[in-house]
Amino acid sequence: MANMEKVHVVDHPLVQHKLCILRDKDTGVKEFREVVSELATLECYEATRDLPTREVEIETPMGTGTFHAIAGKKLAIVPLLRAGLGMVDGILSLIPSAKVGHIGLYRDPDSKEPVEYYCKLPTDIAERDVIVLDPMLATGGSAAAAIQTIKNYGSKHIKLMVILAAPEGIERVQAEHPDVDIYCAAIDEQLNAECYIVPGLGDAGDRIYGTK
Ligand code: PRP
Ligand code: URA
Repeated sequence: MANMEKVHVVDHPLVQHKLCILRDKDTGVKEFREVVSELATLECYEATRDLPTREVEIETPMGTGTFHAIAGKKLAIVPLLRAGLGMVDGILSLIPSAKVGHIGLYRDPDSKEPVEYYCKLPTDIAERDVIVLDPMLATGGSAAAAIQTIKNYGSKHIKLMVILAAPEGIERVQAEHPDVDIYCAAIDEQLNAECYIVPGLGDAGDRIYGTK
């Protein structure tokens, strides 16, 4: 049973509209890639809602006032290769100073379990708040494994940002990492026999990179 207090569905009309574009099988590579990036930007608003702020005094052309600026929190984003790369620029457009780590994983076609083939994280990842990026949370195996890898480096504050989630994936991530908040644009009905999300949007990596 999912803990929905830790699941944040960004149900803004703009997000839902852009998700329709991704779902459409006739959407081409260029537009698909652009919309993945835009959705990452929009979801980022929600995922950074709890960033601490500090009071700053600013002199405007009209006078002086006390305002709220971000309190210099150190952030890192970690896209899961390949498909998570499509979300990176959308996040960096809002948080240009975030450091970027990379974890390479693919799902074994038979077992559907993740196989990690690459990991390069910022050396100070343990001191940073981390947002893991992947458009698809299907069985949850890839995200759960990546989160464990990042925790093994000492990170304590990790969020997971996906575009589409399946209930099975949410349950698996929460079973292994109950501390992690999950951000998504929608939760779809189920997985099919091949562990693809239905109705979903197909294979995110192939649609971003035009590999099928
Ligand atoms: C996809 C997707 C996730 C994973 C989700 O990647 O981008 O990483 O599958 O599935 P899971 O929740 O069942 O683990 P894929 O393995 O197809 O690799 P790719 O991004 O290189 O195409
Ligand atoms: N990976 C994808 O890209 N799509 C799915 O539906 C499931 C896993």
